[in-house]
Amino acid sequence: MPQKVKSITDLPGIGPSTASKLMDAGYTTLEAIAVATPQELAASTGIPLSTAQKIIRAAREALDIRFKTAKEIKEERLSIRKITTGSRNLDGLLGGGVETRTITEFFGEFGTGKTQICHQLSVNVQLPQDRGGLEAKAVYIDTEGTFRWERIESMARALGLDPDKVMENIFYIRVINSDHQIAVVDELFKLVPEHNIKLVIVDSIMGYFRAEYPGRENLAIRQQKLNKHLHQLMRLAEIYDVAVVITNQVMARPDVFYGDPTQPVGGHVLYHAPGIRVQLRKSRGNKRIARIVDAPHLPEGEAVFVITEWGIRDPEE
Ligand code: GTP
Ligand code: MG
Repeated sequence: MPQKVKSITDLPGIGPSTASKLMDAGYTTLEAIAVATPQELAASTGIPLSTAQKIIRAAREALDIRFKTAKEIKEERLSIRKITTGSRNLDGLLGGGVETRTITEFFGEFGTGKTQICHQLSVNVQLPQDRGGLEAKAVYIDTEGTFRWERIESMARALGLDPDKVMENIFYIRVINSDHQIAVVDELFKLVPEHNIKLVIVDSIMGYFRAEYPGRENLAIRQQKLNKHLHQLMRLAEIYDVAVVITNQVMARPDVFYGDPTQPVGGHVLYHAPGIRVQLRKSRGNKRIARIVDAPHLPEGEAVFVITEWGIRDPEE
């Protein structure tokens, strides 16, 4: 995307003191400002509301956020690319693989393979295009401490890739709370375009939010922060043509007798965010079953895949 204005200090009417207030409050990039509301920008920086409105407008103009023609939308849609999951069945269910410009959520109970899929994708994004990759790098945001470099090594080796090179192309960060999680994504607006990153993983999206804002009484504030976070991720996906993959652990609810017993605990917090939601269930042994939820444009049905020593594969292999 062509940009005349590259950083906050290039925006018209922003002096050094306003710029440093913005930076201190975590608004380190144009994108972070463009997606903020005037109220939140004013409250967290001490800048007057009217100035905040002007700054946001300037950032949006600089980033070319505007009306587009249907033809431009078509071209954007056609430019979407896919990353293979390692399983043809699962790729087929997803319409070819995990898409760029989209948030894909994998949700399910513990041990259903969410983290394994994240590991596999951060290797597969590096594959050449004729093998289902994008020849690009990955960011892995870990909230649970379940990332294993050993696993990356064996998945890379199984694909005939140089394990050291593959590991060098995965930018890993262990985040410590939900504010940190949000701040890290703000930083990605700088990191992603600098390093040919085409995949951003958040494993898991909800862990800290659930722990920090428990119960009904905190639902509104939790939802508000989570919306901000999802909004950031959506913008990141759109602006830089990146695939965003998030995981969400849900627990079976024995008290639900009708309908789906694996409703996310705490309600459908991600329900209204656009993107693709994939439910994972356990089957026999290392078999897992994936199903797309709430996606009218994708065919219904289920896909069976397996978690093997080499990574995510199809059962018959
Ligand atoms: P939570 O994070 O607890 O919600 O679970 P998850 O959905 O992230 O599960 P995860 O992706 O960690 O899947 C765990 C399953 O993957 C285990 O039950 C194992 O069957 C399998 N698995 C994990 N590591 C390996 C490995 O090194 N080799 C093999 N063959 N299987 C593995
Ligand atoms: Mg996990």
